Amino acid sequence: MTLRRLGIMTTGGDCAGLNAVIRAAVMRAVQGYGCEVLGIRRGTLGLLSEPPDVEALTPDLFSGAALRTGGTMIGTTTRGNPFDFSMPDGSRRDRSAEVIAACQRLGLDAVIAIGGDGSFRILGRLAQEHGMKVVCIPKTIDNDVVGTENSIGYVTAVNVATEALDRLQTTAASHSRIMVLEVMGRDAGHIALSAGIAGGADIILIPEIPYRIDNLVARIQSLPEQLGRWFALVVVAEGCKTEAGAPLTHPEPGGAVRYGGIGNWLADRLAERTGWETRYTILGHVQRGGMPSTTDRVLAAAFGVRAVDLAAAGRFGRVVVWQNRRVQDIPLAEAGESVHLVDVDGDLVRTARGLGVSFGDEGIGTGAT
Ligand code: F6P
Repeated sequence: MTLRRLGIMTTGGDCAGLNAVIRAAVMRAVQGYGCEVLGIRRGTLGLLSEPPDVEALTPDLFSGAALRTGGTMIGTTTRGNPFDFSMPDGSRRDRSAEVIAACQRLGLDAVIAIGGDGSFRILGRLAQEHGMKVVCIPKTIDNDVVGTENSIGYVTAVNVATEALDRLQTTAASHSRIMVLEVMGRDAGHIALSAGIAGGADIILIPEIPYRIDNLVARIQSLPEQLGRWFALVVVAEGCKTEAGAPLTHPEPGGAVRYGGIGNWLADRLAERTGWETRYTILGHVQRGGMPSTTDRVLAAAFGVRAVDLAAAGRFGRVVVWQNRRVQDIPLAEAGESVHLVDVDGDLVRTARGLGVSFGDEGIGTGAT
């Protein structure tokens, strides 16, 4: 097919590397196919606006800082599900047909959507039920998209969390304290696991592995005798529950939930049980901002170029992924059907255990020992 006009949008939570993806797609589309590119502002909300909210994206826009900046120059939304759209009067409406009508009015031959698993489920329905011509690119600091080893933004977030541990270590050692660092990731512990290994954590708690406070206390109290130190670094993923299994979530409008608070909860328990001075840090959205890492920029370039090539070849309903050092593509339905969690028997969990890291599950019998 001839690709004459391409739409590009970012959907769901932002992360570092989105502008690098947009740049790569614009470069490939304009230089490789002589194609015009329209940036759709604020994800599907741009297509539901009257008139559609779009801007022309040309290569000259990317001669400066865009490649290096966090955020997304075309905006994004986590509230743009057109199948269950929240109207100003509080009612909910299916506006999915309007998305397709807007694509037709704009003369888009294809749309490249940069999103996470939640967005992929919505885009999959738009493709299946309305024939939307879409190619997707995985982005999320959580790295929980099925079928890809890495999503855009993940490595940058791990770098930020690792740097936080580097900074916490010196103050922990100076004051002989336990430092608890809560990181993002929703139900997946990828950020906590990788940053915990890279940043020398003593304890890593992830949603995939249940823990007992007794085990955490034992690990901390063993440190003076075993390693000659009176400080400890603990990383906890935001999706971890209390020991009794209660989630620390906050309701959001529209039925969604926001995670956060386990770091605080855990710090209180550890202080009480060990008698050690304890502080907590909730890293939050710091993990989503700033300059994208080299890995994220390379991934962004590879994904952006391949997505345009797929669109030009008329191969819609695909997600570009990174597998075995190669860019591949998989069906959109496959990428949206579940969430990629940490393999509790996998190499990274084994590595951490090999270093003496406690997951708090001693005696519970999960994962490798
Ligand atoms: O999915 C990415 C993510 O950053 C999660 O790690 C986190 O729980 C969530 O988004 C935060 O969402 P919001 O930006 O809506 O607070």
